[in-house]
Amino acid sequence: MDRIDIRGGKPLSGRLPISGAKNAALTLLPCALLTDEPLTLRNLPRLADVDSFGHLLNQLGVSTMIEGARPEDFGRVMTMRASRVTSTVAPYDIVRKMRASILVLGPLLARAGEATVSLPGGCAIGNRPIDLHLRALEAFGAVIELAAGYVKASAPDGGLPGGVYTFPVVSVGATENAVMAAVLANGACILENAAREPEIVDLCRLLIAMGADIEGVGTSRLVIHGRERLHGATYRVMPDRIEAGSYACAAAITGGSLDLIGAEAADMMAILAALREAGVVVEEHKEGIRVSADGRLKPLTLSTAPFPAFPTDMQAQFMAMLALADGASVLTETIFENRYMHVPELARMGADISVNGRTAVVRGVPKLVGAPVMATDLRASMSLVLAGLAAEGETQVNRVYHLDRGYERLEEKLSAVGADIERVGDG
Ligand code: UD1
Repeated sequence: MDRIDIRGGKPLSGRLPISGAKNAALTLLPCALLTDEPLTLRNLPRLADVDSFGHLLNQLGVSTMIEGARPEDFGRVMTMRASRVTSTVAPYDIVRKMRASILVLGPLLARAGEATVSLPGGCAIGNRPIDLHLRALEAFGAVIELAAGYVKASAPDGGLPGGVYTFPVVSVGATENAVMAAVLANGACILENAAREPEIVDLCRLLIAMGADIEGVGTSRLVIHGRERLHGATYRVMPDRIEAGSYACAAAITGGSLDLIGAEAADMMAILAALREAGVVVEEHKEGIRVSADGRLKPLTLSTAPFPAFPTDMQAQFMAMLALADGASVLTETIFENRYMHVPELARMGADISVNGRTAVVRGVPKLVGAPVMATDLRASMSLVLAGLAAEGETQVNRVYHLDRGYERLEEKLSAVGADIERVGDG
């Protein structure tokens, strides 16, 4: 298995391009199922999860064609066409490996009138149930059956009648599935307390470009009037706010200065505010965002919560950064019950962190020391890369496949701005 070796202590500086957003891409891709016309997505990040999603779509009858981007380019263009949906089943083997596969549930139900999707089961960061996805679809008139580890959703003849659903807690995935199911319903579908993450706004914008009727985009109340059919579209995936935030932390933790080219500050307000509070200089400019730091950072008190608050997907990276701050920080994780697996690994590099339930106290230390480490999820792996960039000596980050799921050519982007980092194959 590949690993990434980092010799730390070099301040990063220069221009770093931000890729298309993984979490947006994974909800835009299944929209291909909603029309028999071609859907072209531009600025798709080159990531293992995007490839796996393409393969899942192929199994459902969607043709996929990747346009000849040059190997040195970031991102690529993919055209998909679901002239006919040939299967409505997302099997266990695929859903198990890629949780986002459950996002075919809503579009298959809308287009084909039924969908059978494996239950995803637990994952490294917690239980992650899908009950809210199912309740929302039921509220719109779907019939839900659970059997043998699969959920089968079906619509009455002629499609979903529509209805109203109020989410008891904000769920990004359930909002996405519900919106995609609603756009072809017979009547109106209303979602209250919907998630309003920028990736949901991106989804709504694509669906509107395909002919959908959605009111309240960017708010927690979405009103969707179902259309008889949607048409094709060409759409550019939004920039990845979590990738941009992660590289902002890389600039901050190394005392460097990075221009995050293409980053969208409006999607990153809580992240940028937290960086500024820590003493990082953040400047918006016409190409993106410049992040610079000099000297020790200040400690923070942060709590993760749905957008527009501080995102759970940035908690691990901030923890690495705050491990070197001048004082004690308090981080609280409110979204997932088990998202501190990076703590023991950071501790092996010299960090002083204690966890009590959902709260972590990070007492800043003057330095970290390189070590062999590994993590069990994507953002946790990134926190170890960040720690490695700042640490004295060599850090070996194992289980690189996690990083490949979410960071397009990480080592290439980081070495171009001065990091001493390389991928080492096991062969
Ligand atoms: C979540 C994050 C998202 C992040 C992604 C990957 C939030 C609100 N969501 O999205 O920012 O990009 O993980 O790390 O920050 N829940 C249920 N039943 C359900 C669905 C969710 O109880 O059917 C609970 C979850 O256990 C969790 C909360 O609701 O505590 C939010 O989950 P949800 O937003 O659905 O998770 P993801 O879509 O994976």
